[in-house]
Amino acid sequence: MSSRFSRRSFVQSAAAVAAATTLPSWFIAQTARAQAATLAANDKPAIALIGCGGRGKAVMREAALHGDVVAYCDVDDARLAQAKELWPSATPLKDFRKLLERKDVEVVVNGTPDHWHTLVNIAALKAGKDVYSEKPLTLTIDEGQRLVDVVKSSKRILQTGSQQRSDARFRLACELVRNERLGKLQQVNVWLPSGRREGPFEPRSVPAGFDWDMWQGQTPAVDYVPERTHVTFRYWWEYSGGTMTDWGAHHLDIAQWGTGHDRGGPVSIEAKPLVQMIPGGFTAYSEYEVNYAYADGVKLICKSTAANNWSGGVVDKNGQQHGVKFEGADGWIFVTRGRIEASDPELLTTPLPSSATRLYASNNHMQNFFDCVRSREAPICDAEIGHRSVSVCHLGVIALRFGRKLQWDPAKEQFVGDREANSMLNREMRKPWTYDAV
Ligand SMILES: NC(=O)c1ccc[n+]([C@@H]2O[C@H](COP(=O)([O-])OP(=O)(O)OC[C@H]3O[C@@H](n4cnc5c(N)ncnc54)[C@H](O)[C@@H]3O)[C@@H](O)[C@H]2O)c1
Repeated sequence: MSSRFSRRSFVQSAAAVAAATTLPSWFIAQTARAQAATLAANDKPAIALIGCGGRGKAVMREAALHGDVVAYCDVDDARLAQAKELWPSATPLKDFRKLLERKDVEVVVNGTPDHWHTLVNIAALKAGKDVYSEKPLTLTIDEGQRLVDVVKSSKRILQTGSQQRSDARFRLACELVRNERLGKLQQVNVWLPSGRREGPFEPRSVPAGFDWDMWQGQTPAVDYVPERTHVTFRYWWEYSGGTMTDWGAHHLDIAQWGTGHDRGGPVSIEAKPLVQMIPGGFTAYSEYEVNYAYADGVKLICKSTAANNWSGGVVDKNGQQHGVKFEGADGWIFVTRGRIEASDPELLTTPLPSSATRLYASNNHMQNFFDCVRSREAPICDAEIGHRSVSVCHLGVIALRFGRKLQWDPAKEQFVGDREANSMLNREMRKPWTYDAV
């Protein structure tokens, strides 16, 4: 790691937090410490983007505040052209392996679709890069176990892009629940936006400049269908898991943070699709209900809601909005993006005692990543947390496909006495792709 990374200078500003939120004053005062660090002008690591879609470009713009963009990579010339407008002096590349060969690149931002996250992340870590990876962190539970091992052995930093962890409202809700503000916790309800139920889709000819084979990577080779690719890849089981993984990586992550299970998992899962898929269309269920139970007796009920569209936008303002509701013997707290509510406002406004359990505080997810690149401390959503959060999503997706109750051992990360379900923990990779292919 270059000496340019050695400097740290933190600026504390409670006023900046207060202006940006409507949080209780006691919480703002106690968490001002987590304000962003200010970088020295010459403290700029070389960063590169792999996957120049909407999200990749958005997070890279944030990363660019902390470093110099030296390269970017996509398998689609059209996407490379868009990135060139943003970073004209950086080098465009079509094969991420070439990008990882560059010794000057210190930080990689991974904005590829889900089926590429792990292979790119493992290769980048092994090449000595620190990684900011988009969520959902993996395609399978096996991928997550492998990734966690590589993060440990490589001693690199990996931040999972579940940025709700760095939103103070979610942290407040989780801290209050952890400190039994609601009394004994009984149930957590999570609502995720319904997915898209569309199709059937027709094969088309591959657009010029688009490397369809490379886009498919480890997944089974099929004819090119535009809806399988940019943005809508998330509604195909082959590449993702529908909103169960897309939004579950946010709200189920918070559910496990609040219940203290974010390095563990449930002990049983039972799920049912609420609507069938269209033959020849998207292959991930769009509407569903999944019931999880934890060893401590807490129940987690995850349902899709049609009150929001796939990207979280409001379709029905009177319907149940996506978010997380913690319910205990003494009341409830509901938290979502931009809003926190409780059965009694005093549940939020009464300060926690100085002896209370405090959670990892970050008010800016990308800043936290670069702080950790410098300090070599674990970021707020490290690989194990990212893996465990998406594991809950994968368990839901698997239970939806099986349609029967599954028992899960969160310590061994295996289904209990269920060979058929255990066969879903990994997927066969199409040649030449393996975990060590790079
Ligand atoms: N944290 C958030 O709030 C948030 C929001 C949106 C998306 N995301 C996540 O970001 C990721 C990307 O989502 P998106 O909506 O931008 O998707 P997208 O399909 O628009 O972009 C993905 C890009 O990756 C490229 N790509 C595919 N394989 C590649 C490879 N092998 N090498 C280089 N590039 C490759 C594609 O050509 C495409 O340009 C997804 O995993 C998604 O879940 C996170």
